[in-house]
Amino acid sequence: MGKKIASARITTESSRLLKELNDSLPFDRELYREDIEGSKAHAFMLKEQGIISKEDYKKIVSGLDRVKDEIEKGIFSLDGDDEDIHMAVERRLTEIVGDAGKRLHTARSRNDQVATDFRLYVQNRNRELANLLLNLIESFLQKAAKYHNILLPGMTHLQHAQPINLGYHLMAYASMFKRDYERFVDSYRRNNLSPLGCAALAGTPHPIDRTITAKILGFDKPTLNCLDTVSDRDFALEILFNIATMMMHISRLSEELILWSTSEFGFIKLSDKHATGSSIMPQKKNPDIPELLRGKTGRTYGNLVSLLTVMKGLPLAYNKDTQEDKEGVFDSVRTAELSLKVLKEMVDEMQVDSEAMERACNVGHLSATDLADYLVKEAALPFRDAYHIVGDVVNYAEKIGKDISELSPKELKEIDERIDEGAAAVLDNRRSMEARSSEGGTSSSRTLEQIEELRRWLKEAKKSL
Ligand code: ARG
Repeated sequence: MGKKIASARITTESSRLLKELNDSLPFDRELYREDIEGSKAHAFMLKEQGIISKEDYKKIVSGLDRVKDEIEKGIFSLDGDDEDIHMAVERRLTEIVGDAGKRLHTARSRNDQVATDFRLYVQNRNRELANLLLNLIESFLQKAAKYHNILLPGMTHLQHAQPINLGYHLMAYASMFKRDYERFVDSYRRNNLSPLGCAALAGTPHPIDRTITAKILGFDKPTLNCLDTVSDRDFALEILFNIATMMMHISRLSEELILWSTSEFGFIKLSDKHATGSSIMPQKKNPDIPELLRGKTGRTYGNLVSLLTVMKGLPLAYNKDTQEDKEGVFDSVRTAELSLKVLKEMVDEMQVDSEAMERACNVGHLSATDLADYLVKEAALPFRDAYHIVGDVVNYAEKIGKDISELSPKELKEIDERIDEGAAAVLDNRRSMEARSSEGGTSSSRTLEQIEELRRWLKEAKKSL
């Protein structure tokens, strides 16, 4: 038998098993800072509104400071028998300050308390993850600027398609991370409303002022409807979705880095810091870090689907099912923070073999489209005819074991007389990359333009956080 669950009504001791199922202290102790912050704001408002005395307020605040200090010093260990972090903090507070501690819960329920604590936690993490993303984007911009002249085979279907430059490739990821950043910021702005003062589900008869607590806690204002607020977990779902999407991007990048570090590609070398060996094969250097980033993406999807499923059948308002909201969010947040930090370090320190990348452009007839475009422009051929002529050129090159960029003007003319002298020049891979100079394209000047635009954006974004 365990200690009685918080209740005025239940007289018998709770069964051990019920406590094991019910108690959230083992995981919601992560919210102790937010819980104490929320309680201090609530106490201040109660004092301002004349609901508790100044003396009680002073005792409560100094008591809460002491509880926090005790938690941080390990004096109050948060592994006791309390049901959750809210009950634990209130119990310890009351032990320290006596009756004043018992007045703290006036005009408050654990339903608005947990909604407030958890929202504060999620809002702080939205900001933190957004900040980490800005650091990552900065690294990508630096690398992109450094590599905007390095040729690389651009792929579709994982087959060589057209020459691009490495900076352009990195800017594709910078663009994804920018959207990820914007999602965290959007969620932050949308959800910056205070649940505190909603009490159990319907508000309270006490003369509270929710705007006071909202302001102290850094929210824009109170939420609109208490019934919604105590059972709403959209803010948690949003951060889970934002993290899952960001991890999907990180996973795609990881997959490319893994491929690029194989002997087949040989485009990059990960720093020894970010690779491990094998216990049996002495020659091995394995890309464990990007593999783990790719692998950890799975759990962040799981956490999202798990909470969506928890929420789908809940009638208004608070139901204990929602206690299941926290562990998945804590796990996704931890995963996301670590992944962003590791990824930045890995990208900063990886070595690029630019020669291997450029060599790879000589395989797969990357400039075939350029020849077709040339015939459209210079020989005034319809694109579909030009396309078929170039098909013949590719077949010829394949037969003699060359890349089309290696064919001479004479060979080209022999394949089809409509191909004139000037055509050979457009088969050059660098020229092909530079020719794609339409807006958003890969030419080095367009790449630099994209880098510039994101640099300007980054400067503003840093100011606004
Ligand atoms: N530990 C609970 C949770 O995380 C706190 C709210 C409990 N409220 C209640 N009425 N039982 O959701």
